[in-house]
Amino acid sequence: MSSASARAHANIALVKYWGKRDEALFLPTNGSLSLTLDGLYTTTTVTYGDGAADRLVLDGVEQGGDALAKVSRFLDRVRPDGLRAFVESENHVPTAAGLASSASAFAALAVAASRAAGLALTPDELSRLARQGSGSACRSIYGGFVEWRRGERADGADSHGVPIAPQAHWDVRMLVAVLVKAPKAVSSREGMRRTVQTSPFYPGWLASVDSDLAAARAAIATRDLDALGTVMEASALKMHATMLAAQPPFTYLRPASLAAIQAVWDARAAGLNGYLTMDAGPNVKVLCAAADAPAWQACLAALPDVVEVLCCGPGPGVA
Ligand code: PMV
Repeated sequence: MSSASARAHANIALVKYWGKRDEALFLPTNGSLSLTLDGLYTTTTVTYGDGAADRLVLDGVEQGGDALAKVSRFLDRVRPDGLRAFVESENHVPTAAGLASSASAFAALAVAASRAAGLALTPDELSRLARQGSGSACRSIYGGFVEWRRGERADGADSHGVPIAPQAHWDVRMLVAVLVKAPKAVSSREGMRRTVQTSPFYPGWLASVDSDLAAARAAIATRDLDALGTVMEASALKMHATMLAAQPPFTYLRPASLAAIQAVWDARAAGLNGYLTMDAGPNVKVLCAAADAPAWQACLAALPDVVEVLCCGPGPGVA
């Protein structure tokens, strides 16, 4: 029996990943850039042994079906010959609420599973491995600000996270207004596929990503919150617009999300500086300076449909 544990933090994309060019290898159509968050993380222990089948226990609950099958397929990439795995995972992120729980989950699993198998993978190798469980997981290998390079190669060797500024570079805050704590109706995998195949807005999205990435990199280098916030907000809203134009159409925006977006814009117009982003779920997140976090916390907590408001700073890479 060999066993190893790992902890990985969630990340929120500032410039979004939306669309795959290779679904089997999780290769993206566009590059993306994220901030790893403290406070939201997954801890996972993998133990290899002679059991009859893999087991997955998530937050104390034995899993079967698709969740177990997905983890088993992922483990096939690293498991020692013939051995079955017992995977125990604790998710400190509201599951499937658009808080990138799959990112921290597969980053932690990649590290624990490869360590327990006796493999000493480099961070870039771990990032490529995590990518093949969930694309955004490749960014959670690293702390701070991380770019996921799209890459050009068909085998994905050049498609992995690259740290662009460490956790200590810039003391910003990301507030997460959790609006509806429920699993999403359209998975990010299905949503991306539908958007890539049918949305007439998708080519426009793709054409704008590289300049967004360049603007975000420059803004992070100079710690320019207005420049970063402007490009971040535009990236998220453009991504959501592509979905409305897909066939059949879909959206992760709920009435509560629109109310939160309006509240953020109103607060900003009134002089509170901060910018919003949203992922494949209803929640609204706000990026702001550390000093403005209490005012944003109060603003978001006053929304009618808010379940909770989380406040995160930049987080570390996997450990
Ligand atoms: O890798 P997934 O399936 O968690 O997809 C992530 C998609 C977005 O959260 C919407 C954007 C992103 O870059 O994280």
